[in-house]
Amino acid sequence: THGNSTNILWHDCNVNKTDRQQLLQQKGCVIWITGLSGSGKSTVACALSRSLYARGKLAYVLDGDNVRHGLNSDLGFIAEDRAENIRRVGEVAKLFADAGVICIASLISPYRRDRDTCRSLLPEGDFIEVFMDVPLDVCESRDPKGLYKLARAKKITGFTGIDDPYEVPLKAEVVLQQKVGLRESPADLAEALISFLEEKG
Ligand code: PPS
Repeated sequence: THGNSTNILWHDCNVNKTDRQQLLQQKGCVIWITGLSGSGKSTVACALSRSLYARGKLAYVLDGDNVRHGLNSDLGFIAEDRAENIRRVGEVAKLFADAGVICIASLISPYRRDRDTCRSLLPEGDFIEVFMDVPLDVCESRDPKGLYKLARAKKITGFTGIDDPYEVPLKAEVVLQQKVGLRESPADLAEALISFLEEKG
């Protein structure tokens, strides 16, 4: 259980989010990239981070795969563990945003409810949900880690998209599709995201 924090008061510092944002000349926010395994979340997250860096903006990527090596190394892939994985990353992302950083979280985050909980942690407009809208058969044909193959062979169970659910976002701020024939690169998709962010100030 997580509800054991009693007799704890909030302590405010005399340097606040506004001060830090002023220092960094940017607005802290959370860009939450969701999608199937192999949909390109991490690649787009890195391309976006690189492109922001080139513009003098500080971003930090929280990637599911990486965070599961440390902070979330105690968690597996049952729904309850995925929810806890998302909850922790959502809380950490909120801290990054409070630090004035553009936090890019890339996790499958298959459940709408878990993503919405993370959204609710931030002020309206500071949580940008990005859906990597790539069909399962495309992700499966890429199969960069060979996990789809293992899932089809039933050597892994509870694999998202095969025998575990993925709930498509209904209100994502940005939907990224790799349109057939257009072959948009991750850098192109990152540019589309940058345009959105610039438009929103
Ligand atoms: S989640 O659902 O948000 O908690 O998942 P996430 O933390 O993003 O981790 C997804 C990566 O873990 C690998 N993996 C699995 N994915 C889905 N289902 C199962 N059962 C599973 N087992 C291991 C997989 O490599 C995912 O990597 P990505 O980067 O998404 O391809």
